[in-house]
Amino acid sequence: MAALRTSTLMIITQVLSISFFLLHQSPLPAITVPTLNIEAPSSLVNRVCKMTTICSYKDCIAALALDPRASSTSNPKALAKIALKLVVSNSTNSKKYIEAMAKKQCFSLSLKSALEYCVSQYESVVIPSFKMALKEVDEDPLTANYDAKVASDGANYCEEKLSCEGCHDVASITTRNYYVKIYSDIGFAVTNMISPVDH
Ligand SMILES: *[C@@H]1O[C@H](CO)[C@@H](O)[C@H](O)[C@H]1NC(C)=O
Repeated sequence: MAALRTSTLMIITQVLSISFFLLHQSPLPAITVPTLNIEAPSSLVNRVCKMTTICSYKDCIAALALDPRASSTSNPKALAKIALKLVVSNSTNSKKYIEAMAKKQCFSLSLKSALEYCVSQYESVVIPSFKMALKEVDEDPLTANYDAKVASDGANYCEEKLSCEGCHDVASITTRNYYVKIYSDIGFAVTNMISPVDH
């Protein structure tokens, strides 16, 4: 009886170790991981997102995942252009959103004027700085780096105005200002990686 028990145990142990072995040798292990629903970040995206200082690693990864080409390039210039194109369209969309909000009648005068100020910051600082940075990536990465950084000033000024007396927190705009900061941070980090002899 004891011998039988021992051999049963041995068989169980063997089956377990074989299935363990098979599990680890399986050529498609990623498919069994349920949380892997987005493409794994490339090593360049990873490096960039580890260098961002204002936005979190997670937000950086998510922001770049909006363009699937981001994870397939290993060229910092190409990634810089992808990120800057994303934010030009993203912040143009935000400007329209704030503009529409500023036209609503239900807000106090001080909030309305803060919203109008935000629209002007998006128009004169945020969007043009990102557009310039995008143009400069090829010829002048150092200036592109500066402009990607400067773009977030507009979001910061807008944010300051929204904390004025008589203005309550406008969460949806704070969120949009944060988008600007995410991509500004990414744009700054990635243009820093373009080597001067690279163009
Ligand atoms: C703007 O960017 C943020 C951050 O990546 C994203 O969550 C949001 O969906 C984008 N919105 C548009 C309209 O592109």
